[in-house]
This record gives sequence, structure tokens and C-alpha cells, in this order.
Amino acid sequence: MKNIDSILMTPALFDQRERHRRSLFSYTWGELIPKVFEDVPKYYRPGNIIASFGLWELWVWQFIRTIGLNPGDKALDVCAGTNDVGIRLLRKQPAAFVTAIDRSKEMQEVGQSRAGKYGVHIDSVIHDAHELPFPDNSFDVVTLQAASRHLQLDKVLPEILRVLKPGGNFYHCDMLKPGSRVVEWLYLRFLRFSIAWTALIFGSTEASRNCNDYFKDAITNFYTPEELSEVFRLVGFTNVTCKKSIWGGMVGYHKSQRANSDKS
Ligand SMILES: C[S@@+](CC[C@H](N)C(=O)[O-])C[C@H]1O[C@@H](n2cnc3c(N)ncnc32)[C@H](O)[C@@H]1O
Repeated sequence: MKNIDSILMTPALFDQRERHRRSLFSYTWGELIPKVFEDVPKYYRPGNIIASFGLWELWVWQFIRTIGLNPGDKALDVCAGTNDVGIRLLRKQPAAFVTAIDRSKEMQEVGQSRAGKYGVHIDSVIHDAHELPFPDNSFDVVTLQAASRHLQLDKVLPEILRVLKPGGNFYHCDMLKPGSRVVEWLYLRFLRFSIAWTALIFGSTEASRNCNDYFKDAITNFYTPEELSEVFRLVGFTNVTCKKSIWGGMVGYHKSQRANSDKS
């Protein structure tokens, strides 16, 4: 059974969906999520591995495999958290340069110490992703993993397009709304169980407990892999491709490009 709302995205529909997400989540995004990420850094990676029964490692490994990075390339990892993506990129291509941007200084502190342990250098910028503090045409590659559900896509995606060089690539990966109602039903129950299970092991703060319903609602109000491809095209990306994960589209890997013809 297909989700009936999984239809072609239009500018009006995208605008309506983003306004709806904002009306539901502005408070959570602005007040609760920053508090959640003050506490999460110390157990972020083991927490993800336990919550996903190990699938997190496979998810990230698959994402990194999709990313092409050449010697000398400049990459920006948006919502970099504890630098999981940046570290793996530099181990794959040590002659690249990686900048991490995240609003949480606590996540980035852990990210910097992890980068040090792996012997790689990552520039760190603490800033909101909705306004990227970089000039136009700055990066060959931009990555965004496991965070777009918490963002206003109609603001962040044009910013990513702006800071990409013409011909540069944007790689995106997140938990998406499955295209099938059956998969969605199973998936949301799994999510509820795994959040409770992880909270039991690592303990949870009041902010995290207040987000229990949010994590489910953020997905039911997010985009299916096909809708997200349309969103990227609407914003102005070209050559948009999407590889769904083995779990019925629960995780999608998108690659899109800033057109070369933008060159001035
Ligand atoms: C689930 S973590 C993902 C971290 C990393 N990308 C990864 O895959 O391990 C989400 C991250 O997004 C960051 N974040 C959420 N909203 C943000 C915003 N508006 N601007 C910058 N960072 C934000 C959080 O601080 C957190 O570090």
C-alpha cells in the first residue's frame, strides 16, 4: 500500500509542507533540540548503534561510499555533530579539506576530540545551518547526514546551493518517511521501542523525554525519498539521484549537483 500523500512536489505544496512543519516544530527545533544535543554528545555514537541494533554503522558506511572526494577538494559537513562524516571522509581522502558546522558546541567539542584521536584536522564553525557563514561558491562537496528532519528545508537547501561551487555535489542522507504505509507503521513502532530502550541504557534528560513524540512526528511529517528528490530539483539542484536503503526507503541517500551553467 502506497502513501497517498506521496505525490509530485510543486512549489506551492513545498511551501505549504514547510509552513506546516514550522507550525508543528518551531518550539522543538528552537528550544528542545539544542538542549537534547547538550547532553547527547557523550553517548551519541554508542547510543545510535544500540538504538538501531547496529544498523547505524551500515547506514553511515553506505553514505560515505556514495561520496566522491578528490585530493584538494573542500568539503562542508552541515550539522556535523561529533564529526562522524568528516572523519570518515578524511580517512577516505586524506588530501581533502573538511569544515564542520553545527549549532551545538558540545557536539563539536566531542567531534574535535574524536578528530584528534583519528589524527585528522577538521575546521569547526559553531553556527546555525539556516544561514551558512561562507561566501558563495566555497565548497566542492557539501554533506548533510541525519539532521534535515530538524531543519527548515526551504531555508537550508538554498544556502547549501549557494555555498557549493558550480558543478559541486551535495550528498544527503536521513531517515525519511517511507513510501509504504505498512513499512511506516512498523518503522514508527520500532523507533518508539528503540528510543525507550536507549533511554533506559543511557538515561535521558527532561528535554529528551519531551521529544519522544517529536521523533515520530518529525518523520510522519517529513518527505518520502521521491518527494525529497523533487524538493531538491525545486530548490535548483540538478542531476538528482536517490538510492533507498534496504529498509524500504526508511533511509535515503540523495546525490544532487549545482549546475555548471551557474558559472559567472
Ligand atoms: C542527529 S545529529 C547528526 C550529527 C551528524 N550529522 C551525524 O550524522 O552523526 C543532528 C545534529 O544537527 C545539529 N543541528 C540541529 N539543528 C541545527 C541547526 N539549526 N543548525 C546547526 N546545527 C543543527 C545538532 O546540534 C546535532 O549535532
